[in-house]
Amino acid sequence: MALLQIINYPDPRLHRIAEPIARVDDEVRRLAADMAETMYAAAGIGLAATQVDSHRQLLVVDVSETRDALLTLINPRLVEASSELAGYEEGCLSVPGVFDEVERPARVTVEALDLQGEQFQLRAEGLLSVCVQHEMDHLKGIVFVEHLSRLKRNRIVSKLRKQQKVL
Ligand code: NI
Repeated sequence: MALLQIINYPDPRLHRIAEPIARVDDEVRRLAADMAETMYAAAGIGLAATQVDSHRQLLVVDVSETRDALLTLINPRLVEASSELAGYEEGCLSVPGVFDEVERPARVTVEALDLQGEQFQLRAEGLLSVCVQHEMDHLKGIVFVEHLSRLKRNRIVSKLRKQQKVL
């Protein structure tokens, strides 16, 4: 296993649209394992392949306190979303130090393939629902700050540009 480099907003590679995975093979499983390791090392609760510059429809999430409930979703597809919305203060490993409230459907049902290539359905609410929707956005090239106002987003971009110059 290996730690992968996470790319930071406003890197244009975060806006690439991920391709579906045609076959779940050892290479995909290795990428998923590396992504999980990278997510845990960064103390994140979710990571999309886009964030490690691999533009395939793959994401990992673990919203448990105990960090032992890893979920891997391959080619995730939204089946159902509640009309009821919920707001949550989101953050992102690609947007370090920035947290802001985003409203999304409170509950979603998602269909995906697992690491054996078997299809499964996930019904999510609460933090898991937020996290899965946030990661699925990444696969479409959308970063959570794009749900915020232009003013807030511009402020975030200049803050991050300053940080990146210091590094
Ligand atoms: Ni993110």
